[in-house]
Amino acid sequence: MTATPAISIRDLRVSRGGNLVLPDISVEIEKGSVTGLLGPSGCGKTTLMRSIVGVQIVAGGTVEVLGRPAGSSDLRNRVGYVTQAPSVYGDLSVGENLDYFARVVGVSPERVAETIETVGLSGFTGRLVSSLSGGQRARVSLASALLNKPDLLVLDEPTVGLDPLLRAELWKTFHELAESGTTLLVSSHVMDEAGACDHLILIRDGRLLRHTTPEALRRETGENDLGRAFLKVIESDEEAA
Ligand SMILES: Nc1ncnc2c1ncn2[C@@H]1O[C@H](COP(=O)(O)OP(=O)(O)OP(=O)(O)O)[C@@H](O)[C@H]1O
Ligand SMILES: [Mg+2]
Repeated sequence: MTATPAISIRDLRVSRGGNLVLPDISVEIEKGSVTGLLGPSGCGKTTLMRSIVGVQIVAGGTVEVLGRPAGSSDLRNRVGYVTQAPSVYGDLSVGENLDYFARVVGVSPERVAETIETVGLSGFTGRLVSSLSGGQRARVSLASALLNKPDLLVLDEPTVGLDPLLRAELWKTFHELAESGTTLLVSSHVMDEAGACDHLILIRDGRLLRHTTPEALRRETGENDLGRAFLKVIESDEEAA
């Protein structure tokens, strides 16, 4: 018996503002891993994530999350979503932000301290979010999505604008979460993050280029550098077309 995938997408078709953004995507994501969703700006990463969390009107196809149709009310507490735009309040402290979100999602106040610890911000609980570094702020957003212990975490460019050290720390946190059984889908438009993922979904112009792993992508292209490997895949697909 094969386990139900965390995400199962079949023939997904999405238009936004009259543009066919995702013409036809099918892909499955297994549970308990970190999958990177990578592709250039405007290729459709956010649109795909919105479809997965069930906030995107779709023109066709099916999206199942943890075996249920995306957006089902019983998934609300099982899926965490951190949008690309900052979603925490600068004029509240770390603790106040999380107390507020804990009330919104209906989890106990004790969960706040646990979550702050998970993202490595113990010691910053009383600090105003506006006084934090970019990486610390990204961790507060992440913490808000972790409060209800979601089975699936969808993170839209969580490391954008962070220096390499902070990025590495966040990726470490993602893997710790995956080891505890959470499935993570993390988008990025910079290929140098691809190496930190267990699985890679490469998208270009709304189309699935590859569902692969860093090792398999290096093997396929003979390129050690994943940015160059991505370009090679694009070139070879264009030649084949
Ligand atoms: N509300 C909208 N109306 C019309 N077109 C839209 C809308 N939102 C997005 N698009 C278009 O859909 C395409 C995919 O956008 P999307 O935000 O999914 O890309 P992305 O891969 O997340 O990009 P980025 O890396 O810049 O965040 C883009 O061409 C964008 O211009
Ligand atoms: Mg985006």
